[in-house]
Amino acid sequence: MNSTPMNTVCLLGSPRRDGNSDTLAKVFLEHAEVNGARIQKFSLSDLQYNGCRNLFECKTGSEHCGQTDELTPVLAAISQAQVLVLASPVYFTSVSGQLKLAIDRFFSFFVPDYPTASQKSRLSGGRHVVLLQTQGEPEDRYADLLKSFSASFTGLGFDKQHLVRACGVRNPGDIGSSSSVLDDCKKTAESIYLGPALQEIEKD
Ligand SMILES: Cc1cc2nc3c(=O)[nH]c(=O)nc-3n(C[C@H](O)[C@H](O)[C@H](O)COP(=O)(O)O)c2cc1C
Repeated sequence: MNSTPMNTVCLLGSPRRDGNSDTLAKVFLEHAEVNGARIQKFSLSDLQYNGCRNLFECKTGSEHCGQTDELTPVLAAISQAQVLVLASPVYFTSVSGQLKLAIDRFFSFFVPDYPTASQKSRLSGGRHVVLLQTQGEPEDRYADLLKSFSASFTGLGFDKQHLVRACGVRNPGDIGSSSSVLDDCKKTAESIYLGPALQEIEKD
């Protein structure tokens, strides 16, 4: 186990409590906590915030987003997080609107000359992002959702990217029978929090 706890921020993108993505988040965070993570969880549907308004203050003098609202402490927590967990249903081919608005605000983490800078982010690199994705349609749909965010997340410093998907789940509770997905969640958490320690155990 890592000696310093890994700060972990989880954003819940679904408005449904105890829905499928919420269940994945619970399983992931349970295993994160067991393996020493420090966790903060935010239910985006409970917060009042806007998407990016392109004020550009974060690129013209301020180090932070120009808007102050209920996403402000979330962005501050993310800036201190080694692991960012995004739990979201697929809504109309992408992440939920609640999550997409929040992701757009991550723009404030980019430095002013980010298009050309080699260090594009105000955040250090080597961080993890985990997408816990749920969808009603089968596995062959939306397999590339995380990939579509990959370059942006890498630029921000979240270059270690992990995907857990539950497919063919529509109603809350559908995921309950999908135990291999819950196992994926556990394994993904262990690979992040146990990291080198896990590799050592597997070598023995
Ligand atoms: C507004 C809305 C849009 C949706 N769009 C899609 C979609 O495009 N593709 C899909 O596979 N499922 C879609 N779904 C189904 C959800 O992704 C699915 O029910 C998921 O398990 C919900 O996760 P949750 O229980 O965490 O809310 C949609 C559901 C809603 C309410």
